[in-house]
Amino acid sequence: MSGLVDGFGRVHRDLRISLTDRCSLRCTYCMPADGVPWLQKDSLLSTEELVRLASVAVGLGVTEIRLTGGEPLLRPDVVDVVGRLASLTGPAGPVELSLTTNALRLPALAAPLVDAGLRRVNISLDTLRRDRFLELTRRDRLVDTLAGIAAADAAGLSPIKINAVAMRGVNDDEIVDLTAYAADRGYQMRFIEQMPLDAGHTWDRASMVTREEILDALGDRWSLSPADADPHAPARLFSLDGGPATVGVIASVTRPFCGTCDRIRLTADGQIRNCLFAREESDLRALLRSGADDAALADAMQAALRLKKAGHGIDDPGFLQPDRPMSAIGG
Ligand code: GTP
Ligand code: 5AD
Ligand code: SF4
Repeated sequence: MSGLVDGFGRVHRDLRISLTDRCSLRCTYCMPADGVPWLQKDSLLSTEELVRLASVAVGLGVTEIRLTGGEPLLRPDVVDVVGRLASLTGPAGPVELSLTTNALRLPALAAPLVDAGLRRVNISLDTLRRDRFLELTRRDRLVDTLAGIAAADAAGLSPIKINAVAMRGVNDDEIVDLTAYAADRGYQMRFIEQMPLDAGHTWDRASMVTREEILDALGDRWSLSPADADPHAPARLFSLDGGPATVGVIASVTRPFCGTCDRIRLTADGQIRNCLFAREESDLRALLRSGADDAALADAMQAALRLKKAGHGIDDPGFLQPDRPMSAIGG
């Protein structure tokens, strides 16, 4: 049984598992305001099933697992899931576990999650202004998000990375404020080029805030110099005024990093997606529920990866957004 290698020789070591498609916010770039087509309950993987698939992937060389959603902390047994995944060990050693969250449940859960083995979190925060937060997420919860971030910090989760999708006329005038907020507290701010994954399919490249624009805005306030980053991670890092604080830019659209992609995704309903933008999925849940053994599940994961395309194809004529909304992929 070899590892998770695709047809281009890319070795996959990073598994992103969506724990639920539910969310407590309704961010405009991710979800519709209402009428969300939720996954059916019996289609969701049980915790047993999820841990089994994760352990097969770890056996195939996965060393990092990131939990996503929707909002992963809405899964009722998330602390148990974290505990079980954190104890997985593969040929390369124990798994590194992380989570991407909107922070709303962190005041209650940060400490138990740390006790269960979670070490770090990435948190979505697109604005520091209450009116904008309400407009963008359709919920008046800025204060709770900020409390969740503080709770993550107090519980010792580190590093804390803050994600903001840069949006023209929405939050692009807050690039400096958000970065200062994060840097002052020892967190890493990251700005993300918006990808065509919004529920309304209204994404338009011409109005997307680009990496260049993000760097220009930052450059008006700080002198930026490239800093070391994991070559497989989407974020390119820059230090602020030569100091220890860094800011990240995730330029999936203008500077795709597909050539070094090492990510594979498992949805909450047990489908393997070999790319964020994949149009086809592999149904591991059906295989699992038909009684397949671990070797057959591993074969299916490897087969799914062999179909992986070279890149996301956003610039290709005839590019089509995936049918599954971002909230059911996990980012
Ligand atoms: P670490 O590098 O482990 O801290 O995580 P991350 O930055 O990859 O994860 P996070 O969940 O915080 O995602 C940040 C942004 O990167 C989101 O907009 C994701 O959709 C995007 N992203 C994550 N992985 C990929 C990927 O493989 N391809 C593309 N195009 N975007 C990705
Ligand atoms: N484009 C880029 N990033 C997105 N995210 C959600 N939707 C999009 C999109 N359309 C980000 C969120 C979250 C992460 C998991 O994905 O900000 O932090
Ligand atoms: Fe990997 Fe697809 Fe993301 Fe490119 S768009 S980096 S291939 S997941």
